[in-house]
Amino acid sequence: MRLSPRWIMEVLSCSLVAYAASVTVQSNTLLDSSWIYFVSYDGLVNLNSFEISGIITHNGYQYATWYTSSRYAMIGRRQLGANSWSTIQLPHQLSTNDSHDVVVVGVLPKMVGACALRRKRKPLKNCRVHIAMDCHSTKMCYIMSVANLATNPGSMSWTASQFGSLQTTLNGVNLGSSITYPQFVLAANGRLQLSYRVGISGNGQASIAEYNESTWSILGQWSSPTGTYTSTNDVASTARNLYIHGFTYKSGRLHSSGTWREQNTGFLCSSGGLTNHDTIYVYSDDISTTVGTTGTSSLVGIASTGIIVYPLDPNHGLMNQESQDVDTTGLPHVMISYVPGRFGQCVSNYVTDRLWTKSELPYALNSVGCTQLVMDSRDNAWAVLPFVRVAVATKAGGWKDWNLVYDGTTTGLSGFGEVVVDRIRMQAGQDVLSVMYQKSSSGSTPSELRVVEFLLNA
Ligand SMILES: *[C@@H]1O[C@H](CO)[C@@H](O)[C@H](O)[C@H]1NC(C)=O
Ligand SMILES: *[C@@H]1O[C@H](CO)[C@@H](O)[C@H](O)[C@H]1NC(C)=O
Repeated sequence: MRLSPRWIMEVLSCSLVAYAASVTVQSNTLLDSSWIYFVSYDGLVNLNSFEISGIITHNGYQYATWYTSSRYAMIGRRQLGANSWSTIQLPHQLSTNDSHDVVVVGVLPKMVGACALRRKRKPLKNCRVHIAMDCHSTKMCYIMSVANLATNPGSMSWTASQFGSLQTTLNGVNLGSSITYPQFVLAANGRLQLSYRVGISGNGQASIAEYNESTWSILGQWSSPTGTYTSTNDVASTARNLYIHGFTYKSGRLHSSGTWREQNTGFLCSSGGLTNHDTIYVYSDDISTTVGTTGTSSLVGIASTGIIVYPLDPNHGLMNQESQDVDTTGLPHVMISYVPGRFGQCVSNYVTDRLWTKSELPYALNSVGCTQLVMDSRDNAWAVLPFVRVAVATKAGGWKDWNLVYDGTTTGLSGFGEVVVDRIRMQAGQDVLSVMYQKSSSGSTPSELRVVEFLLNA
C-alpha cells in the first residue's frame, strides 16, 4: 500500500486566539538496544498508531512491550522518572514478519478499579499484568501475570516467573480464530477491556471483551460488516469493516471514531488507492449493555444514520487507524489524514457540518505513517507526527494555531516513523508525553528502542 506523498493532516473537533506553547525534553531512556527490525506494511512491528496500549502507566510505574531481535516478546517497567527500565523476556516468539502482530499491555485501572478500594478491606486478587500479541486474522496470543503484580509493584519481584505460559484464549475465553488489533483500554465501569477486530480487512467487526477482576468475558461485536455501499461510479460493495481511530473512555462515556474499508475495490480510480471512505463518530454510555443485550440491528453499520461527521468518497487515500482523544470537557478530537481533492484528480466531496470543525496541520507528513493525537489536562491538542515531530494547537487558539514545537529529525533522534504514546499517563493529567520510538535502520539490522519524555508547557 503506497500512497501519495502529498499528505495533509486534518483535525476535526466539535467546537472554536493564541499563546506560546512548548515542550521540554525531560529524559530519553533506552528500552532495548537490539529491537527487532523489519519493515512490513510500511511500518515496524511495535510502532503502530493503533497501539493504544503499547506503553502505559499504572500506579506510579510505566510498562512497555516490544519484540527483541531474538523475536521474543519483552515487557519492561520503570518507576516514573527513573532512567532505566527492568526488562523481562516473555515465553513467546513473534511468528511472522508482519507489522500488524504488535504486542500490547494492560492492567486493570487503579483508580476506579477495585485495586485501590479493596486494599483496605480484603486481600487483592487482581491487578495482574495482561499481554496480548502476535495476531493478524489469526488466533490471538495472550499471557497473564500472577495476581497483584501491579498492585504494589515495589514489593513483588519483577521476574519472568511472575508470568504464566502462552495461551491462545483470554485465559479460557476463546475469541475465535481471526483476531487482529488487540488493544487494552480502561473502561468507565472500572474494568479492563480488550478492543479487537474479528474477521478480516474489508469484512470484519469491531469487538470488545472485558475483564472484571477475575474473569474475561466477550461483550461482543459492535460494528456490522453487512449492507450495501454504492460509490460515485455506481459500483456496489456489500461487505466492509470499521477501522477505528481509537476507543476512548472519558467521564463514563465511550467515544470511538473510524472509517469504513469496503471489500469491493471496483470503485478505485487507481489500483494503489484505498477503499476507505467517510469519518464516523459514535459514543456509548453503556457499551456493556448495548453490545451484550441487543440484536444486530443496533450495530453501527453502513446504514446507521447521523454518524458520518466528515463525508469523503473513496480514492482520497483516507488513512485508517489514525488517532483520537477526548478533552476534559468531553469533546472528542479526531485526527485523520487524506489527500484533499485539490491535490488529486479523483474528486473530493466534503462538507463540514455545523458542529464539527476541522483545521489543517500545515506540515507535510513526508511519511505513510499515522500521527498520534493526545489532549493535555488543559485541553490543548498535541500531535506527534512520524519521526517524533511534536505539534501543538491550543484550546485558547481554538485548536487552529498549530505550531511545531519539537522536530526529532533536526534534533537527531533518527526515529523510523510512526510512534506510540502513553495515553494513560496523559489521561492522569500529568502533562508528560512519553513517546516510544525506534531508531531507523536498514535491512534486518536491529536498532534501539527508546522512550523520549516531554514536559508540556501550554
Ligand atoms: C466476574 O465474572 C465471573 C463470571 O461471570 C463471576 O463469577 C465473578 O464473580 C465476577 N467477579 C467480579 C469481581 O465481578
Ligand atoms: C524477518 O525479520 C528478521 C529480522 O529483521 C530477518 O532477520 C528475517 O530474515 C526476516 N524473515 C523473512 C522471512 O523475511
